[in-house]
Amino acid sequence: MSPLIEIRNARKKFMGTPVLDGITLSIEAGERIAMLGPNGAGKTTLVRSMLGFYHLDEGEIRVMGKDPIRDRVEVLRHIGFIPQLPPPVKLSLDELLMYIERSTGTPKGAVIAQAERMALDVKQHASKPFFKLSGGMKQKLLIAIALARRSRLFVFDEPTASLDPKARELFYRLLSDLDYDYSAIYITHRLEELEGLINRKIYMELGKVVEDEPIAT
Ligand SMILES: Nc1ncnc2c1ncn2[C@@H]1O[C@H](COP(=O)(O)OP(=O)(O)O)[C@@H](O)[C@H]1O
Ligand SMILES: [Mg+2]
Repeated sequence: MSPLIEIRNARKKFMGTPVLDGITLSIEAGERIAMLGPNGAGKTTLVRSMLGFYHLDEGEIRVMGKDPIRDRVEVLRHIGFIPQLPPPVKLSLDELLMYIERSTGTPKGAVIAQAERMALDVKQHASKPFFKLSGGMKQKLLIAIALARRSRLFVFDEPTASLDPKARELFYRLLSDLDYDYSAIYITHRLEELEGLINRKIYMELGKVVEDEPIAT
């Protein structure tokens, strides 16, 4: 079987500066990865390239055997992605959840139930535009959407950065409670929070993978 994600010699420059400097990685189904490294290391650029947001200058990425740019819809169908910065969505929460239900088949009620477990009352804010929520509330809703979709692969880009300690705890509890086999990539600066949730650790620096090792679970 082909790996979940295959990256071969990925290179990308932004304004002349290498941001991905020849990355080769293979990720198998069932792997749950902490991706670490200083700001500017290229972590966000790497995961966004896996999701078809960016063209590489050189090299190749395959996600479930597919090209994330050419087969973007198919690739994104299986991935629950939480971006580092919430998108500026103008839809109200109600409209957003309707849209998600129509486009992904994830029932609105399932998202509302997950949000409740993140201590976010969607119904109370149903007519509010998404972009007017606080940073933490946006993050909670994005988490609820991703988890409600029961994706095969989660990609979380610093998911707890804007969450208070209580919400962080709830988030990790929801992850531990997931009752199926999923794969995950967590970009984080807080490795200690991921204890028990990961089985591999990848450290990036200046666009390169400088450390890659398994973690006993
Ligand atoms: N869309 C972009 N346009 C120009 N430069 C970018 C863009 N995205 C990222 N960069 C630059 O690429 C480098 C790596 O960024 P990023 O992938 O966000 O790193 P990390 O997520 O590890 O902090 C940084 O120097 C950043 O300024
Ligand atoms: Mg980043």
